[in-house]
Amino acid sequence: MTMSEGPKIPLRAARSANLAGRISVPGDKSISHRSLMLGALTVGETIIDGLLEAGDVLGTADAMRALGAQVERKGQGNWHVHGVGVGGFSSPTGGIDFGNSGTGVRLCMGLIATTPIEARLTGDGSLCKRPMGRVIAPLEQMGARFAAAEGGRLPLTETGAKRGIPIIYSLPVASAQVKSAVLLAALNTPGVTSVIEPVKTRDHTERMLSAFGAKIDVQDEGVGRRISIEGYHELTPQPISVPADPSSAAFPLVAALITEGSDIVLENVMLNPTRTGLLLTLQEMGGDIIVLNERVAGGEAVGDLRVRSSRLTGVTVPADRAASMIDEYPVLAVAAACAEGRTEMLGLDELKVKESDRLAAIVAGLGVNGIAHESGENWLVVEGGVPRGGGTVETHMDHRIAMAFLVLGLVSREPVTVDDGRMIATSFPTFVSLMTGLGADIGELATA
Ligand code: S3P
Repeated sequence: MTMSEGPKIPLRAARSANLAGRISVPGDKSISHRSLMLGALTVGETIIDGLLEAGDVLGTADAMRALGAQVERKGQGNWHVHGVGVGGFSSPTGGIDFGNSGTGVRLCMGLIATTPIEARLTGDGSLCKRPMGRVIAPLEQMGARFAAAEGGRLPLTETGAKRGIPIIYSLPVASAQVKSAVLLAALNTPGVTSVIEPVKTRDHTERMLSAFGAKIDVQDEGVGRRISIEGYHELTPQPISVPADPSSAAFPLVAALITEGSDIVLENVMLNPTRTGLLLTLQEMGGDIIVLNERVAGGEAVGDLRVRSSRLTGVTVPADRAASMIDEYPVLAVAAACAEGRTEMLGLDELKVKESDRLAAIVAGLGVNGIAHESGENWLVVEGGVPRGGGTVETHMDHRIAMAFLVLGLVSREPVTVDDGRMIATSFPTFVSLMTGLGADIGELATA
């Protein structure tokens, strides 16, 4: 992982004319990680198309190789995985570096937890600040042992249990990563393991495990779910076609809504209801977004989104919607900055433990660009208008902070600079080229 080594690369975005064109943003990051992991857990060949070839996912590919699976790139987005079977992982010879990826490391902690192997796991400066205790707690109950840095952080050494212990685990935080870590650990555990989530979080692990033949049962419980999985069953390889990532589509989507005269189409975007909170919110704000060719592909709802520039109005985004749009608040704050009136965003606790403290990073970015706002422990209010811009935003090694504030620059009176654009490659390496192709004025800051 070298993305954060070497000098920073500042990027600048300036007021742009209307955006136009059809684009496909890269494959969904959540599904891409899971495709490689489930492929590694099967005996036989899993063929993946449309895999996201970005830093975070390439880190997971390396991790699966380090644990014994064969992972090969055959062509653009086309990857073949020969797995080792449930319980078949072996101890890696060196440590495994997950770079910037919370999903990569947390799900992998689940994979290792119930196989009697030992692994040293680490990540970049951002990942080493993020809490791992939320995954360590249930995995210890399942029999794994951890020696972690202070505060339950990376780097850590994990020793998997000789024989996993089935548990019933109520998630104390709304986190698909924690849920997934427990479900993956349960695969090599005798009996039935259950996870109860208080609110629905993204359900790709459950859907994909079911497609791979796992004995899994999902029941709605109030506004949440109870997921039960029986261990000690083999998984069967499945072909996977990865749809476009709605969390990446969010950036050109908001850019087109706020840039006058724009009309774009985003192709093949995943529309899983646990991921569409931003779409709903932008439609409530008056965004002209039409879903075309709605269909089901690879077990997920997908569609093409036609997006035209719109007059947006501020709304209140309720706390119970946060899980379905947790990665989208940075760019929603930008949409809110261009709307008429106030937008209130509530229940933002989880935003503080992402690739950066995103609540603080958004607040600082709004501040340096002259956008009126108020914030508290877990909420943010943005006052809309015509953004002044002109600020330099600190990205704190956070790809989504970088992309969101570049979108702001397209409509601000003065250009917006982000201090470092390198981390964009962790999730959306083609961001700048796709955006400039649509007509956006984004590029490296001249350093002459
Ligand atoms: C992810 C879950 C979310 C999200 C992350 C991807 C996943 O994190 O923010 O980008 O693929 O499971 P949490 O589970 O911590 O909310």
